[in-house]
Amino acid sequence: MTEHWWTHGVLYEIYTRSFGDSDGDGVGDLDGITDRLDYLAWLGVDAIWLTPFYRSPMADFGYDVSNHTDVDPLFGDLVAFDRLVAAAHGRGLRVVVDYVPNHTSDRHPWFVESRSGRQAAKRDWYFWRDARPDGSLPNNWLSLFGGPAWEWDDATGQYYLHTFLKEQPDLNWRNSAVREAMFEVARFWLDRGVDGFRVDVAAAVMKDPELRDNPYGEGPWRGQFWAEWEAQQHIHDFGHPDVFDVWREFRALVDAYDREDGRERLVLGEVSSHDLTAWARFYGQRLDAMHLPFGFHLLRHDWESATVGEVVDRVEAAVPAGAVSNWVLGNHDQPRVASSAGPERARVAMLLLLTLRGAPTLYYGDELGMPNVEIPPERTRDPWEGNVPGFGRDAARTPMPWTPEPNGGFTAPDVDPWLPLGPAGLGMDVATQQADPRSTLSFTRALLAFRRASAALRRGTYERLPGAPSGVFAFCRSEGAERLVVALNTAGDATELDLRGPGRVVLSTGMDRSGEPVNGRVRLAGYEGVVVGEATRG
Ligand code: NOJ
Repeated sequence: MTEHWWTHGVLYEIYTRSFGDSDGDGVGDLDGITDRLDYLAWLGVDAIWLTPFYRSPMADFGYDVSNHTDVDPLFGDLVAFDRLVAAAHGRGLRVVVDYVPNHTSDRHPWFVESRSGRQAAKRDWYFWRDARPDGSLPNNWLSLFGGPAWEWDDATGQYYLHTFLKEQPDLNWRNSAVREAMFEVARFWLDRGVDGFRVDVAAAVMKDPELRDNPYGEGPWRGQFWAEWEAQQHIHDFGHPDVFDVWREFRALVDAYDREDGRERLVLGEVSSHDLTAWARFYGQRLDAMHLPFGFHLLRHDWESATVGEVVDRVEAAVPAGAVSNWVLGNHDQPRVASSAGPERARVAMLLLLTLRGAPTLYYGDELGMPNVEIPPERTRDPWEGNVPGFGRDAARTPMPWTPEPNGGFTAPDVDPWLPLGPAGLGMDVATQQADPRSTLSFTRALLAFRRASAALRRGTYERLPGAPSGVFAFCRSEGAERLVVALNTAGDATELDLRGPGRVVLSTGMDRSGEPVNGRVRLAGYEGVVVGEATRG
């Protein structure tokens, strides 16, 4: 398989509000990220993905864009952005930015114009519909963030569609002017030197042309969204077959830049389909749509070895020939893996993420084994929590703890950070873990270094190792003479695994077994993971 940076590179997600606050307002910003690039180079990731930093009223913390081609003053300005890109490139780090095509802010000039009258030039840029003859809503679609997906506009006497908050009206991508305007946004950032896009809700941009009601019926969701939303089959508002043409066109636009200068840019789509066949379609029939659809597969399952192994096998079977999967353990919309899988499994989960075939996304803070932070009700910020209690995402978005001091070096000690940090003094900060050769951070860094040097991990085959004892998921990654066995004990009891031949432990989650000879069997403590090199590295 041809190797590209995006077939193995580690993409580090930065929640822009929470990485570093350079100007002391309690909110992270672009200069705050630039200041921390040395850390990311030291850690050994390949690229960073920045969540939206565009002008926004922040109803959904930046996913409600009011100007796609400017930086919100909260985060800096275009000069700060250019500085960040130059500093990242200078350290060999690529920069991927968020692209939010499905909706804009209700304060975006396009929407302001669109709602100004039924004859407005941009009326058709959004979805405006009359009530049904009986006075009910135009259809039964629901907002993912709670309530109906339709908001009444008194001034023009029609409803508009919003798949998310009412402050996030959906754009009508069947209108070619919308498509062109949004493609122009992509060109703007490509011209500024970005290395690709993470495409927000990529499956939703094309809706059923007649906006028909979704049928009701059990879907694949399991408490991920609110009950009524999950009770519908989202065949008309998500994943319409016409969506692939959009992403093929978008990919062609990005590829044209690659052809121009020989650089490789990434299109990574947020696709949350549970149906792996539907998910795999986002690569495009000729691998000409997304380079990678997000691989959320591991998020939805228990951390039992058998389940994890089945998920990985099913994904491997679904990925088209010539492509790889992306893998995700957590992000700004999901509970942190150290909380969902449990703190004792945090390193096993990291070992899995960084040894599977494909390109992983690492969520900031997970390299520390950072758990969700408890947010007191009066400090809740996520509007989703207000709409549907229990669904808030604040706990996974808290500031990065750099030091054990108050406010963790994220912002000055006397500033109120936008979200509270977790308790200090428990070793959950970068400085403390850098000083400890057996910390989760030291483990993650060693693993990243090993991954970079290992052809088997970068581009080798994946093969499940049969006959692993209960609780253990084991697989081989091979390339040429290099053959690695990754064995993960997701259970608390110690056990042993048969290997095909002799070898040596390359790395263990406890950072205490490197170099240990292994002869036919490898012992695993509870919640321990090891990488064993079975042959001389080629
Ligand atoms: C997915 C993003 O990851 C999430 O944070 C956001 O709220 C929605 N899309 C809407 O843009």
